[in-house]
Amino acid sequence: MARFHRLTVSAVDRLTDDSVALTFAVPPELRAEYRHAPGQHLALRRVADGVETRRTYSICSPAPAPGSDGPTHLRVGVRLVEGGAFSPYALKEIAVGDELEVMTPAGRFVLEPAPGQYAAIVGGSGITPVLSIVSTLLAREPAARFCLIRSDRTTASTMFLEEVADLKDRYPERLQLVTVLSREEQQAGLPTGRLDQERLTGLLPTLLPVQEVAGWYLCGPYGLVQGAERALRGLGVPRARIHQEIFHVDAGTRPAPAATAPAHSTVAVRLDGRSGSWPVRDGETLLETVLRNRPDAPYACKGGVCGTCRAFLVSGEVRMDRNFALEPEETEAGYVLACQSHPVTERVELDFDR
Ligand code: FES
Repeated sequence: MARFHRLTVSAVDRLTDDSVALTFAVPPELRAEYRHAPGQHLALRRVADGVETRRTYSICSPAPAPGSDGPTHLRVGVRLVEGGAFSPYALKEIAVGDELEVMTPAGRFVLEPAPGQYAAIVGGSGITPVLSIVSTLLAREPAARFCLIRSDRTTASTMFLEEVADLKDRYPERLQLVTVLSREEQQAGLPTGRLDQERLTGLLPTLLPVQEVAGWYLCGPYGLVQGAERALRGLGVPRARIHQEIFHVDAGTRPAPAATAPAHSTVAVRLDGRSGSWPVRDGETLLETVLRNRPDAPYACKGGVCGTCRAFLVSGEVRMDRNFALEPEETEAGYVLACQSHPVTERVELDFDR
């Protein structure tokens, strides 16, 4: 069950003009709770003028070693979103010594270290979870190799430039690094311009044996991730080997209620071992219904992106507005995003504990 604790900021490192890395110290008594897999994220919570804001940020530091107490520190990357509700505050106001409310780690965009060839295609701040994935994998698994293809606008706007260069120095044989800059000339031979489906379809087979890659990790803006997935599917990569995480999806407008929506419906919920049942108000999502009655319900983005509100649909039917977080296997297994779900049947039963 996800929980918030107050953690102290132990370092603020400027990465680029518009991004920082925040490091939190984890006290010994909380280390087990903050144990994370490489690729997971943390939700940060801020209450200002009575309004609560939550945002998720990927952990870039390596995952703690198995058998250890858990991480002593957690580092996340934050890029400025103009007009955003959290990142301007993170970039301009957060200082060493501040205490922030930090949720325990969540997310299923993970790679548990194992031998084999892996690859990632990332854009912009999409490097953040992949940095944790690559550093953990190469340190723990001597028989693993990684091909990292990253796309940025310019060198100056590239997050974690030094950290990635250090990894390349430490593992020159096992880390293949390809950098594509869309707005800057590079040395001859290196690709420039945008990484879209067509370019990736041509580029990937020249870089590595596409069919031998055990796991592809796609992370970044929606367009890049979509194009990369289409390119990989076109090259015959099975869907189960492709993992994706999307950043910054516009809020969009909520679709009108479906004609099939029942006039009255009830949601029954199991959450942290306790059960409750409440009427769903017109047009609201199941998460909104649950939060009115159980403020401890898990969520972060409310936009169908982070997957924190995942729940198992025990009975009844729901309609999801959108889903950028759950893999097809998860929806087939019966999981839904509560923040995107509306009841289609008069009674719906959700289990947040499964
Ligand atoms: S809260 Fe992020 S997907 Fe629902």
